[in-house]
Amino acid sequence: MRCYLHAFLLCMLFTFFSLLYVFSQLASTLEDRDEWLAKHQGMPDRSSRDTGHVLRKSPGLAGLRDHEEGLDSERSGSAAEEHADERSHLAVVACGPRLEETITMLKSAVLFSRKPLHFYIFAEDELHKGFRKALESWPRTVQNKFNFTVYPITFPKENAREWKKLFKPCASQRLFLPLILKEVDSLLYVDTDILFLQPVEDIWALLSQFNSSQLAAMAPEHEEPRIGWYNRFARHPYYGNTGINSGVMLMNMTRLRDRFFKNDMTTVALQWNEILMPLLQKYKLNITWGDQDLLNIIFHYNPESLYVFPCQWNYRPDHCIYGSNCQQAEHEGVFILHGNRGVFHDDKQPAFRAVYEAIQKYPFGKNMETSLLQPLEVSLLTTTHTYCGRASHLFTKRLKQSIMSVQQDSTQAR
Ligand SMILES: *[C@@H]1O[C@H](CO)[C@@H](O)[C@H](O)[C@H]1NC(C)=O
Ligand SMILES: *[C@@H]1O[C@H](CO)[C@@H](O)[C@H](O)[C@H]1NC(C)=O
Ligand SMILES: *[C@@H]1O[C@H](CO)[C@@H](O)[C@H](O)[C@H]1NC(C)=O
Ligand SMILES: *[C@@H]1O[C@H](CO)[C@@H](O)[C@H](O)[C@H]1NC(C)=O
Repeated sequence: MRCYLHAFLLCMLFTFFSLLYVFSQLASTLEDRDEWLAKHQGMPDRSSRDTGHVLRKSPGLAGLRDHEEGLDSERSGSAAEEHADERSHLAVVACGPRLEETITMLKSAVLFSRKPLHFYIFAEDELHKGFRKALESWPRTVQNKFNFTVYPITFPKENAREWKKLFKPCASQRLFLPLILKEVDSLLYVDTDILFLQPVEDIWALLSQFNSSQLAAMAPEHEEPRIGWYNRFARHPYYGNTGINSGVMLMNMTRLRDRFFKNDMTTVALQWNEILMPLLQKYKLNITWGDQDLLNIIFHYNPESLYVFPCQWNYRPDHCIYGSNCQQAEHEGVFILHGNRGVFHDDKQPAFRAVYEAIQKYPFGKNMETSLLQPLEVSLLTTTHTYCGRASHLFTKRLKQSIMSVQQDSTQAR
């Protein structure tokens, strides 16, 4: 009898261990498959594995959210988590006498946005104090809508001098943002001379419409080839029919850092950090508009990487100076106004200047309809002797809606 019992127990033990073995084998094949999938399903995400951000396994917006929430909860607890996924990241580069203009641009960003913002301000050292002082003087309720960081202008050591003198003092800084802000996934870069007439989150949302090859978004330089600059004068390759304008530029910097770009200098494709210097060396005698020309050359050879958004996201005097030629703005109004060539400050395009001054003079806290929109409409009436003045109902069309929806929010909050 005891003999049978022994045999039975041995049998049980043997079965148990065999089952254990089978399970462990199964588990390890599953693990292998996961690893294989991660490796072969494209770009993401070696870094997340290394740093233990397991959450960010899946590409796309959901993955990004998880990642950002993870970062924020480490920093500042659960309050930040709720809207961490909603932030728009806005970068600007300011040199010389651009402080007030930049502050006015940032003011337009906070006035009409309903979601939180982060500002990355790159500026010459002399301007740092001015930025802090101005932004910290805004009312607490306004300050709650954004965070900001001020950075010095920096260039790769080897060629700092050459980069600095390209075009305006430090406009080429923007090309290096993907290399400087290594931890930031995406950015909206804007020139200092733009004004948001519509919430920043609306242009930010275009990032999620990129297909898998797109990594930056800009508007065409011109709608009308007969007055286009690149197609008539450029001595270098440029994007599309009329080139692109880099004053308002969305960048998925994760992709910019990873991608290899085709070019006309080497037979192999080059990464972002490798392509800029050879490009400058090859084309420096032929470029007129500095870094915008370099971007045009890059996207000429890599057109599938660019998402082109319509002209109402980057509306310039060229769009109305000889009559209105931005069709999308005719339908939906101007979303972002770009006062290039100094028109926010001189008398050449009084309609552009009127918008700038209305936003600059508006006192925080006052009713935006009566203290911003109505005075602006009055001063635009005095500009109808110009073509742009005649198109200026397009300047206020979207602005009106932005103001209404911000005011609705604030009455609901009360
Ligand atoms: C940028 O691209 C990366 C890699 O494709 C992706 O994970 C991320 O979600 C994108 N960012 C945005 C804001 O769409
Ligand atoms: C700004 O940063 C603080 C501290 O990290 C955070 O609590 C707050 O939610 C942030 N605000 C915005 C608008 O992102
Ligand atoms: C620069 O412009 C000149 C004159 O148009 C042209 O001959 C030359 O090929 C251009 N250089 C490059 C690198 O495209
Ligand atoms: C993404 O869109 C661009 C522009 O329409 C196109 O050239 C490119 O082939 C598309 N990429 C993919 C992967 O579909």
